[in-house]
Amino acid sequence: MRLLFLGDVVGRSGRVLVAERLPRLIADWKLDFVVLNGENAAGGFGITEVIYQEFIDAGADVITLGNHAWDQREAMVFIERAPHLLRPLNYPPGTPGRGSVVAPAKNGARVLVVNLMGRVFMDALDDPFAAIEREIEAIPLKQGCDAIIVDMHAEASSEKQAIAHHLDGRVSLVIGTHTHVPTADHRVLAGGTAYMTDVGMCGDYDSVIGMAKDEPVRRFLTKMPASRFEAATGPGALSGLAVEIDDDTGLAQRVAPVRIGAVLEEARPAFWTAE
Ligand SMILES: [Fe+2]
Ligand SMILES: [Fe+2]
Repeated sequence: MRLLFLGDVVGRSGRVLVAERLPRLIADWKLDFVVLNGENAAGGFGITEVIYQEFIDAGADVITLGNHAWDQREAMVFIERAPHLLRPLNYPPGTPGRGSVVAPAKNGARVLVVNLMGRVFMDALDDPFAAIEREIEAIPLKQGCDAIIVDMHAEASSEKQAIAHHLDGRVSLVIGTHTHVPTADHRVLAGGTAYMTDVGMCGDYDSVIGMAKDEPVRRFLTKMPASRFEAATGPGALSGLAVEIDDDTGLAQRVAPVRIGAVLEEARPAFWTAE
């Protein structure tokens, strides 16, 4: 199975890239399944129903979120009728929406996607380790589903690495989101789980983590807000991870970084070539 995971889509720069590039990548690389993180899609803050539908129309199978899940208040309502939109699983009981879904891939596989959120340097949530444990106990790899993708939305590299090692051999992919900067440690762990500490963002990299540079710089200098944070609007880059999953075991065979667009050095999986 061929999987592409795209990092946090930030504002219009990121959305335009997804709309323009994703359908072609799906065709060229014969992708079976695409997940993207959409927590910053609406001007950097949250997601609207219109944008959710745009992502689905571009070919995304599942959209994950994170700490910005409810920045657009309409998300608390429309998430109930958006079956492939996930918010972190370890929010308190009673939170709208869902934290996991089993979705069909193009090759017929059943893919369990789980959105978790870390607790180090972030809001105090329920334990993400216990939450994912319950989830994969209920829907184990190769029994309840054919592949398992875990989006670990977290600030601390340590927490992301820890959960990846804890799950190694039991899920197909653990991928970090939230920091908006791609790390260079993409690999398949010893037990067969694909891993990358942070997948980066899809947006304008000539920015401070996707935001227009002036206000973040000013706030570091003066410690006073002068205006609102706004998503940077220059040409963007897609940043993601390509993963090939063994159909027999549900574990990863190989991974490669994907970086396409402005600023970042281009990277494409050599093992998937366009015809
Ligand atoms: Fe984000
Ligand atoms: Fe985030």
